Amino acid sequence: MAKLSSKDVLWAGQFSIDEIELILETAKRYEQALTAGETIDDLQGKLLATLFFEPSTRTRLSFEAAMQRLGGSVVTVAEAKSSSAAKGESLHDTIKTVEGYADVIVLRHPQIGSAAEAAASTERPVLNAGDGAGQHPTQSLLDLYTIVKEQGKVDNLTIALAGDLKNGRTVHSLADLLSNYDVNFLFVAPPALRMPGEVVERLRAKGIDVEETDDLSEAVKACDVLYMTRIQRERFEDPSEYDRLKNAYVLTRRMLEPAKDTLTVMHPLPRVNEIATDVDELPGAAYFRQVANGVPVRMALLSLVLQ
Ligand code: CP
Repeated sequence: MAKLSSKDVLWAGQFSIDEIELILETAKRYEQALTAGETIDDLQGKLLATLFFEPSTRTRLSFEAAMQRLGGSVVTVAEAKSSSAAKGESLHDTIKTVEGYADVIVLRHPQIGSAAEAAASTERPVLNAGDGAGQHPTQSLLDLYTIVKEQGKVDNLTIALAGDLKNGRTVHSLADLLSNYDVNFLFVAPPALRMPGEVVERLRAKGIDVEETDDLSEAVKACDVLYMTRIQRERFEDPSEYDRLKNAYVLTRRMLEPAKDTLTVMHPLPRVNEIATDVDELPGAAYFRQVANGVPVRMALLSLVLQ
């Protein structure tokens, strides 16, 4: 029997298939309850602290919406400069402080490994909401939930991950999470922004088929799910290198003409220019539905770690 009680959520590779199924089933139940307008009080009396030391719209607001939809409460640090981190306080001391106030902690931080460091500082569950260019495991769960809803299955799909695969934490996590299923991957990136070798090695070690290319137009024809990502400007040390790569891929409606009729187009958002707005009206353009799925999936995570 899968259980997530009191567990940290640090990276997508930590989940067993039973735990993934439990999260998806719980999220579906919450989505149905929300759609039916039911009042949910599963986390009444519980308090979530959201600590965001990097910008966010979706992750912070959907975690906070999720907690409030569950009847719980939220305290937040929405930017590093408004916390005592700006005065030089260590992450350890910040977390030791927050554990005195809250039952569960959601952390976004610019350093890879920061969520694990936070988790080592407290007995409270810590949920990684993005650690630099590392992982974004709760995003990958809502991405998986979206794939299931849009495609009706995961096994035997060809999934193209496109854009900044080097720095994009969402694609690192999604690749790890989907490696629990029988999928084929197409990794589409300019040579300078390829998927890190250790992620590719993890997938191949599990028998997952991975093909790497820089040709988005060819990938569009072959895939069932096209997951576009932003070139991560904030991870570039050299602004001229960002300028060279920022328009590497701009997906247009015309480019999608040879795609399968059943193609699902996803994007974790925010989008800059990598999907033209003329794609938005296509039935397979799922990225705003994907955003909305963040609430039931994060409700599931919060209720499961706090049960
Ligand atoms: N997808 C995602 O992480 O979005 P935010 O940066 O707005 O939280």
